[in-house]
Amino acid sequence: MPNFKIPEMAQSEFAMWQSMLESRSGLWLPETRKAFLVTNLHRHMREKGIATFNDFYELLDRREVSSIEWAELVDSLTVHETCFYRDKDSLNLVISYCRNRALGDWAIDPQKHVNMHLWSVGCSTGEETYTLALEMEKLNLSLSESSGKNLYYGVTGIDVSYPSLAVARDGIYTGRSLDFLPTTSLNNYFERLENRQVQVSEDIRKRTCFMQANILELESQPSQKFDVIYCQNVLIYFKQERKEEIISDFEKRLKPGGILVLGHGEITSVNSPSLTRVDNKHCLAFIKNEYSTTKKSELA
Ligand SMILES: C[S@@+](CC[C@H](N)C(=O)[O-])C[C@H]1O[C@@H](n2cnc3c(N)ncnc32)[C@H](O)[C@@H]1O
Repeated sequence: MPNFKIPEMAQSEFAMWQSMLESRSGLWLPETRKAFLVTNLHRHMREKGIATFNDFYELLDRREVSSIEWAELVDSLTVHETCFYRDKDSLNLVISYCRNRALGDWAIDPQKHVNMHLWSVGCSTGEETYTLALEMEKLNLSLSESSGKNLYYGVTGIDVSYPSLAVARDGIYTGRSLDFLPTTSLNNYFERLENRQVQVSEDIRKRTCFMQANILELESQPSQKFDVIYCQNVLIYFKQERKEEIISDFEKRLKPGGILVLGHGEITSVNSPSLTRVDNKHCLAFIKNEYSTTKKSELA
């Protein structure tokens, strides 16, 4: 009869696991998450027939576990919770920023082809990426009605989790992730499927793409720059030093005048002199210097 009793994990062992997970994935599990780690590791160990935490640790440390198995382990320790329209204030800020930029650019050159590329970082199962695309589509319609001009936009979602990205690419949702989706968005930009499922319309899906990437290894990604970097509920799981490195990488990926929008309380300070905090008490956002058309106060 197999032994399903969960073994004890010594404090020194927990510290070793904390350190390995942090250095290889950025995931920082505080003391309060020890029981969660233990239960998860035990489940993986049972599936693989590994007897002790130490044996499992050694296998991972010697990299004798495939990268897929490592990714599965990290995935099971990561929070993927998300939904459509999760943070309306941040979303409104992005749309207001894009509107002001387009109008500012057309005021200088009415013929200008205005392109906006948004990056949804840590996009999980895609709801955030599609929310941005839906709102950009609405903005485009309203600008084309009022000025006869079109805004060209694309939204790229990245996440480290392969299973989450597979859901994102299908764009099929049901249940709680739709709770805050406005009925007009549901009616206009989704197709109804069987079993109360809905799928993001093809027009919106065409505006999005999803890529697997680790935000700790952004240098290995194509060196593209973005107008908007939207990163919510991701950095809270990282240590302060890591957050600073990631913000510095984001800053390099922002176009001059671009906007970085983070989640509330995601970071306590930003040291980059080229990022200026947007004066908006509902959002945590920064503009990269060197852009004059959109004044920061217009976004407050
Ligand atoms: C709580 S979800 C947030 C989803 C969405 N941004 C939102 O606010 O609703 C956090 C996501 O960050 C992703 N993530 C965690 N560490 C990451 C890393 N090192 N690189 C890329 N994505 C990461 C996780 O896989 C997870 O899907």
